[in-house]
Amino acid sequence: MERIVIQGGTPLQGKIRISGAKNAALPIMAASLLCHGRCSLSNVPALRDVNTMVVLLRDLGVVIGQPEPGRLELDASEARGHRASYDLVRTMRASVLVLGPLIARFGRAEVSLPGGCAIGARPINIHLMGLEKLGATISIENGYACAEASVLKGAKITLDFPTVTGTMNIMMAASLAKGSSVIENAACEPEVGELASALNLMGARIYGAGSDRIEIHGVESLSGMSYEIMPDRIETGTFLVAGAITGGDITVQGCRPEHLDAVINKLREAGAEIFIRDHDIRIRRLGELHAVDVKTGVYPAFATDMQAQFMALMTIARGSSVITETVFENRFMHVAELLRMGADILVEGNNAVVRGVEQLSGAPLMATDLRASASLILAGLAAQGETTVSRIYHIDRGYEKIEKKLQDLGAKIRREKEPEKNTVQTV
Ligand code: EPZ
Repeated sequence: MERIVIQGGTPLQGKIRISGAKNAALPIMAASLLCHGRCSLSNVPALRDVNTMVVLLRDLGVVIGQPEPGRLELDASEARGHRASYDLVRTMRASVLVLGPLIARFGRAEVSLPGGCAIGARPINIHLMGLEKLGATISIENGYACAEASVLKGAKITLDFPTVTGTMNIMMAASLAKGSSVIENAACEPEVGELASALNLMGARIYGAGSDRIEIHGVESLSGMSYEIMPDRIETGTFLVAGAITGGDITVQGCRPEHLDAVINKLREAGAEIFIRDHDIRIRRLGELHAVDVKTGVYPAFATDMQAQFMALMTIARGSSVITETVFENRFMHVAELLRMGADILVEGNNAVVRGVEQLSGAPLMATDLRASASLILAGLAAQGETTVSRIYHIDRGYEKIEKKLQDLGAKIRREKEPEKNTVQTV
């Protein structure tokens, strides 16, 4: 096990380049199951979750080459597997993204139900409803969603909630269905649009992705393609907060500013200066931070994946902010750890009232989930003294070389092995 050690208090300065988006790479990798032919992906981030998806797809018979860092060659021409095991799915909920492609390509799928995770129960009932509307017969057996479909037929599917991976699963399955489908109340996240662009390069006929109404006209088969993964909007937002929380002046290069309007607006409201030029965003914070209220929502509202990071910023802002989490039922796991650094936060249901304090103090902390661990690192960068964040495998799931990028911005941060646990001798 590894941990990250931070000596806080250094205003970050300089430039860093954003990596490819985890939540675009994972569905596009899963979509390779639909193809006869080779999919060549570039700008693929080096993440634990990407490695997990490689293992899962290989297990299903996809031949995957990694010719150089950031590139993947996936060929599912000979793939025949249809079972995604619990061991893999429980480590990464995004494994559920193979469900739609397996049903569409092979007419059958057995995918372990993902089970809950730190941030919530995370059911897949809407995924299953949509696939049944397309003609799949689905039963739940021994914790697996077992699906059969001799043929998939186009249908009109209205989602109860604009689930991101649910929209993706249904879109992938419908791309090989007979006839046309419409997804109403679809997720509008940019990653959905990216997946549709990749599928259309494979020969799919998808229109309206990125809006809440997507039309898919089924085709006979799909072929390989080449695709560059878009930059990660959540990594971008995380580094913008790093510049603001340390009172620094940094430039985030190679990003898509248009994907972060809600976050940029809140950072400006909080007192940061932000300058946007093409694919670069510069953020500078010279004066005091002001407390601002935030309510997460589906895109283009303030991203739930940025809530923990923004809360870290609000812990040292003047005044009180109310942070409301509307997407997941248990996404305040970072609060307990922030309190140990001297933050003043009161959680009432899905609201957290954050009263700004002068200064946080470094402390030994434990990561619980991907974005919570990012929030603890951000707090450590601003805190006085030393902060250690253990169980850092959580952060490696979604951030590529985070400590290296922060070192390049002047942060006093290192990764090291967890010291041996000193067992308490019971007498
Ligand atoms: C995607 O998860 C992202 N993951 C999450 O990012 C992100 O937080 C989330 O979308 C919301 O933006 C990937 O893209 C791999 P949802 P997803 O289905 O699709 C309920 C990260 O940090 N729901 O939109 O699993 C569900 O319980 C991760 O990178 C149902 O009730 O999220 C939740 O409350 C964390 N039934 C809400 O919808 C369903 O069938 C949002 O879930 C599906 C979802």
